[in-house]
Amino acid sequence: MDTEIDWGSLPFGYVPTDYNLRCEFRDGKWGDIEVSTSDTITIPLAATTLHYAQEIFEGLKAFRGVDGKIRIFRLEENAKRMRESAKGLRMEPVPEEIFREMCIRAVKLNERFLPPYGSGASLYIRPFEIGISPRIGVKEADEYAFIVMVTPVGPYFKGGFRNTNICIMREFDRVAPQGTGRWKAGGNYAASLGATHKAHSMGYSAVLFLDPKEKKYLDECGPANFYAIKNGKYITPKSDSILPSITNMSLMTLAREMGMEVEERHITVDELAEVSEAGACGTAAVCSPIGEVDDIDTGVKYVISKDGKPGPVTTEFVRRLDAIRHGEEPDVHGWITFVE
Ligand code: PLP
Ligand code: COI
Repeated sequence: MDTEIDWGSLPFGYVPTDYNLRCEFRDGKWGDIEVSTSDTITIPLAATTLHYAQEIFEGLKAFRGVDGKIRIFRLEENAKRMRESAKGLRMEPVPEEIFREMCIRAVKLNERFLPPYGSGASLYIRPFEIGISPRIGVKEADEYAFIVMVTPVGPYFKGGFRNTNICIMREFDRVAPQGTGRWKAGGNYAASLGATHKAHSMGYSAVLFLDPKEKKYLDECGPANFYAIKNGKYITPKSDSILPSITNMSLMTLAREMGMEVEERHITVDELAEVSEAGACGTAAVCSPIGEVDDIDTGVKYVISKDGKPGPVTTEFVRRLDAIRHGEEPDVHGWITFVE
């Protein structure tokens, strides 16, 4: 059965698909993987996920290649990060094999929702895990549900590959200095909604959060990491309060291959005046070029893109990532998992 989706104008939104996969951890072990056609779940009213935010998730993408094959990008890294997140929130880590099998089967079963090659869209895979034991005292669950759903998506920032403007504000922090920022915990996103809403209402696409301790250094950019090009070097924040982005990790590899030095370090706000390019990178954001960063507390505007166009490095990053993900260039780093 075909879908009625207009792939070319798909936003980054939720489109229900046919199947999702589920697996529960009970009595000290993971059970059988189940295929479901329902897009709802039944859990106890007192489940730890509902009261104490025991929820973690991942985001990865599947692509239809130039050769018709289906490729998932860096699945092992997402599986690994999800286990780190689980440890951070005292949850049960999902074994890589279960994560892998469920992601692959979810893509395969929903193949009719996989955007065609050349459409610019992809199938977003959203694995998530929740604590389902009923508790009223603040304590981790003994039982967990791990679910993988998929949905076809287009670009995260409106307008696709063009400059986007972001802002710095000190009124809100997303996470605490030694808090949950390094894990992909749903609560971090709830904590970012106030700042994001304010930024959107002022016409910005995202907030460039500062480090929550000193408010001196750049941390990350909404649901994406931040990078910039300064004197031909790739620079990106090193911080305990940001999520280690798999896209960023991949860009660092590509940057080195392109002959650039890579620096992971603190970046001060005023260094923005010295960068020739900046971008927000992530699975959803891909590599979104940043046109301008406005510091709304000080009124300083950092105009990064002088000609209003995406810079050459970001353009090349997107080209290379796209080529690897669509099988147009060889996967020399072993980043691809095929869905047979
Ligand atoms: N930072 C945050 C807060 C995110 O939600 C994401 C999205 O996953 C990223 C960074 C980018 O990470 P990745 O490149 O692994 O998708
Ligand atoms: C992703 O890039 O996968 C993300 O998780 C961003 C998302 C929160 C929209």
